[in-house]
Amino acid sequence: MASGKGGVGRTSLSFNLGVALSLFGEEVVILDMDLVMANMDVITGLLNPEVTLHDVLVREKSIEDCVYEVNQGIRVVPTGMHFETLKNINTSYISWNKIIEEISDYGNIFLMDLPAGIDSNILGALPEDSEIILVTTSTMTSVADALKLRILLKELNLDVLGFVLNMWYDDKFLLSPKEIEALLELPMISAIPYDREMDRALALGRSVVETNTSSPTSNAIMQLSADLLGKQYQPVEPDKSSILKRIKKFVGMLPE
Ligand SMILES: Nc1ncnc2c1ncn2[C@@H]1O[C@H](COP(=O)(O)OP(=O)(O)OP(=O)(O)O)[C@@H](O)[C@H]1O
Ligand SMILES: [Mg+2]
Repeated sequence: MASGKGGVGRTSLSFNLGVALSLFGEEVVILDMDLVMANMDVITGLLNPEVTLHDVLVREKSIEDCVYEVNQGIRVVPTGMHFETLKNINTSYISWNKIIEEISDYGNIFLMDLPAGIDSNILGALPEDSEIILVTTSTMTSVADALKLRILLKELNLDVLGFVLNMWYDDKFLLSPKEIEALLELPMISAIPYDREMDRALALGRSVVETNTSSPTSNAIMQLSADLLGKQYQPVEPDKSSILKRIKKFVGMLPE
């Protein structure tokens, strides 16, 4: 998951997508590659992990020490908040290939939560077979930054699957999916609606695909996972019959 602009939802989508993929039976490992402004630990409810990628990168711990299971079928490799340790890490020398190879036994899908921006040191060090998903919102600034990133990824010959339009809602002042597709010359692989439940679920260290299964957001994320896996997904519909039953009981049409 990559984006030019920050705050577009890479980390929360990585987590939600990870949970969705695990619901399809996949073993997922999420790597927090944001070494400076990490927050995968917060979003997954894994507060203050003892060992982080920082300790591994300064060779004080081994990578196996910082693979944490946060849900069934979903593991996280978090980054830390220790600014002192960070000073001793040179991002240009990190071999993400090697890191993923060393934890390959922990899963079959590795989701990388990249830092925002167009740092060619980080992007250039990605495994060659990485499949990149650009995340953008429909604002001008977010799409403009996605375009800069798109150009750099092309130069680096990295495979971009398409873009996810996050926090989407229809507004004539925002760019439409068609306009963004034309600008980025990429297919939109999913439009995830703007949903305040996202923040609420994350505050509990959970994902919307668990807390709000019939919401349009959860269905969109589940559908995205199914598409990535080449599987079928039947959207979960809101249970209207139980709502109707409750209304009928309330007005006395049914016994309590
Ligand atoms: N579809 C959505 N609808 C509403 N809010 C969302 C949605 N997706 C993400 N958010 C919220 O947007 C905020 C930013 O999300 P997140 O931290 O995942 O973005 P990021 O791109 O990883 O940011 P950073 O650049 O700081 O790493 C969070 O509060 C998150 O809950
Ligand atoms: Mg983030």
